Amino acid sequence: MSPWALACFLLLCGPAAVRMIGAAGLAGALPRNTVPCNDDSITLFRVDGVWNYSSMLLREDLGLLLLGAREAVYGLDLRNISRKTAEVQWAVTQDKQAECTDKGKTLMDCWNYIRILHVLKDGRMYVCGTNAFSPTCGYMTYEGGRLSLLSTMEDGKGICPYDPYQRYSSLMVDGALYSATTLNFLGSEPLLLRSLTTALRTEFQAMWLNEPQFVSMVEVPESVGNVEGDDDKVYLFFSEIAVEYDFSSKLAVSRVARVCKKDKGGQRILQKKWTSFLKARLDCPVLESSLPFLVQDVFLWRASDWRNSVFYAVFTPQSASVDLSAVCAYSVTAVGDVFSKGKFKTPVTVETSHTKWVMYSGELPVPRPGACIDNTAKQMGIMTTLDLPDKVLQFVQTQPLMDPAVEPLSGRPLLVKRGAAFTRIVVDRVTALDGQNYTVMFVGTDNGFVQKAVNYDGEMVIIEEMQLFHQPVPIEILRLSVATGQLYAGSSHGAAQVSLSVCGRYRSCLDCVLARDPYCAWNLAEGRCTALPHLQSLQTRNLIQSVKDADASTCPIPETMEPENMTFTTGMSIKLPCQQGSKRAAVHWLKDDQPLNPSDEDYVHEDSLLILRTSAATAGRYECRSVESAKGRKYTATVAVYKLLLNETVNEGKDVKPLPPQPKPRTTGHDLLPLQVPLVALAVTLAVLLAWNLYRGHLCLPGCRRTQESAGSPSSPGQTNPEAAEVSEITLLPNRNINNNHFSVTFAGGMDTTASPRDKRCSVPLQYIDDESEI
Ligand SMILES: *[C@@H]1O[C@H](CO)[C@@H](O)[C@H](O)[C@H]1NC(C)=O
Ligand SMILES: *[C@@H]1O[C@H](CO)[C@@H](O)[C@H](O)[C@H]1NC(C)=O
Ligand SMILES: *[C@@H]1O[C@H](CO)[C@@H](O)[C@H](O)[C@H]1NC(C)=O
Ligand SMILES: *[C@@H]1O[C@H](CO)[C@@H](O)[C@H](O)[C@H]1NC(C)=O
Ligand SMILES: *[C@@H]1O[C@H](CO)[C@@H](O)[C@H](O)[C@H]1NC(C)=O
Repeated sequence: MSPWALACFLLLCGPAAVRMIGAAGLAGALPRNTVPCNDDSITLFRVDGVWNYSSMLLREDLGLLLLGAREAVYGLDLRNISRKTAEVQWAVTQDKQAECTDKGKTLMDCWNYIRILHVLKDGRMYVCGTNAFSPTCGYMTYEGGRLSLLSTMEDGKGICPYDPYQRYSSLMVDGALYSATTLNFLGSEPLLLRSLTTALRTEFQAMWLNEPQFVSMVEVPESVGNVEGDDDKVYLFFSEIAVEYDFSSKLAVSRVARVCKKDKGGQRILQKKWTSFLKARLDCPVLESSLPFLVQDVFLWRASDWRNSVFYAVFTPQSASVDLSAVCAYSVTAVGDVFSKGKFKTPVTVETSHTKWVMYSGELPVPRPGACIDNTAKQMGIMTTLDLPDKVLQFVQTQPLMDPAVEPLSGRPLLVKRGAAFTRIVVDRVTALDGQNYTVMFVGTDNGFVQKAVNYDGEMVIIEEMQLFHQPVPIEILRLSVATGQLYAGSSHGAAQVSLSVCGRYRSCLDCVLARDPYCAWNLAEGRCTALPHLQSLQTRNLIQSVKDADASTCPIPETMEPENMTFTTGMSIKLPCQQGSKRAAVHWLKDDQPLNPSDEDYVHEDSLLILRTSAATAGRYECRSVESAKGRKYTATVAVYKLLLNETVNEGKDVKPLPPQPKPRTTGHDLLPLQVPLVALAVTLAVLLAWNLYRGHLCLPGCRRTQESAGSPSSPGQTNPEAAEVSEITLLPNRNINNNHFSVTFAGGMDTTASPRDKRCSVPLQYIDDESEI
């Protein structure tokens, strides 16, 4: 048996573990719409020459977003992050940088990467940077609209990573700083440390932490309303090399660990170490017979009662051959139960020096190892962890691993998606028109997108994907502000802000309802898609929303659309835009109410009809329809109507024949028919063509100078067809139609099937806001 197969056997192939993703799970995982990076709803912040915008602190109290980048911290307007209100530089000294490169690090590693930003009780902020592999922390104030860094600096070892590429996590709770990183330059001493109060840390032992990748830390106020007198907990999510499997190669697993907030360490054993550090495997079963997926980020959705809170985690595979990512959700109580009720694992030595981890089924010492000091302990006279018996401490010191794994809610992932790997997640809860609360997940990917997804009773719907960064850079940080209704993201190239929902983007009732966006409803009175009012009011009678059933049958029948009048001349190319609100909709074109059979002269592009060569027969009424299926119902809508009129005056008396055929996009057997055309006709056509081109100035006879500057790319090697150089303008008659499809009427001759202007703008390097000029 190969090692991989063995791992599969050990981890996943138990009898209760028939793990399959339902076909529906993957099928639904196609975003209905893509919001391009130049959309109005996306605001960017970036300073020239500054990189790595990967730490954030939301100060809703100050209306400020603090953004940590390389060698700088920025204070940005929370409502519009393109407005920089303050900044502070924190550059590494030349000596430090030289010292760092002398130790064999690259210059790239030897900058000061701001990694930690927290707010202290007194309103000051705690900020740490890697400082050329010499982690350093300091205090920062925001007064009178100015950010300043106090001159007293502290050693940041154990708080902030040395290596800017290393994963880490930190959390400030009640003035105590919890940090998960490494203590030494080499990165060989990983730890979970509490500092700024009584310092506590983990043991440097493989059974505590074994080459961990720290991901996230979360506090859960479990003492609130707790009859057992339990303590608040800090949960740490990470992945590490498993110790519990017989496995010749290194096998990584996802973990959740937790400590009690009131832990004070042991008296003799575990002195100044955690007495409550327990960990368990975190399971997110994605595929049969694959290596365990690894946790990349965790977000705690907080319910008013902590017992109903839910952890949402994103996972990616550990083997590069799989391109699936997943979201799994875990109830806080299910995680807590594994630690408070689950069995432990214990190492046993088999044969010579070989250690095997098995379930511990012996007697547990009391109080239960790793438990917080609760009422039961207090009744035994154990008031703090310093009073814990040695036997209890010895037990947790040598076996902090739980036997059961933490299983996701409903036993399987909420979302599995192929494509760009998931990197970060934040979650919002929305009350929809049906009175139900739905969880909306915003998932960042490693190519600069955020997927907005909702699970409706097991049906996964990706409402839209938003391209936050033009460059395909990983989203490295995501923050959500319910107060501003905005999402904030950071990457190596900049920071971005986007609204949680932009209902106005849904143009029709059908679009609004079929999007199944719980934030939005079609407002009958106003005739537009509007944000759902926060409080359920009587006005809801005028609203249409159907998130669970996607039932748009109550949508009013739209008025017949006024056609867009266009005149054209023969021999030109025309593009008729028909932008679909949904990528799930099929596009149908009608000409004069008959289904249009795409011929060689015209063909349907994703969001437009391309007529490559107009002739007199081109004139007519063109209608673009979208057909979208949702929950077994089919909805047809007219998206755009055009009326093409031949401009007779231009062609009068010239009797223009169509230009010679271009390389055809598709060929059929019927193409052989022209052989029957009399040769005379061909000769006439050629003569007319020559005359036509001379007339238009496309062909140059000796002594004629070409005057048309706009003639495309004059010496483009691919363009041998003279027609390709023709640029014909189509004029659009002004009209008041609100349909936004009519933003572009192009067009030029030739094969230039350029994308719509919107895509075009997005594909050129972004014009970032140059904030220096703004201040
Ligand atoms: C943000 O501010 C900039 C400059 O002040 C402005 O151009 C832009 O329209 C604003 N964006 C939003 C979404 O308000
Ligand atoms: C910082 O940004 C640069 C430019 O994108 C990137 O090449 C580098 O990997 C980033 N460094 C870290 C530590 O993320
Ligand atoms: C939805 O959430 C609100 C508060 O966020 C709560 O008052 C309400 O009871 C919840 N509704 C349901 C159906 O759970
Ligand atoms: C288009 O032309 C028709 C007549 O052919 C006219 O009735 C209609 O109002 C025009 N539409 C617009 C939008 O100008
Ligand atoms: C037809 O073309 C001529 C010449 O280009 C132009 O002057 C005229 O305005 C056009 N007519 C219409 C109805 O567009």
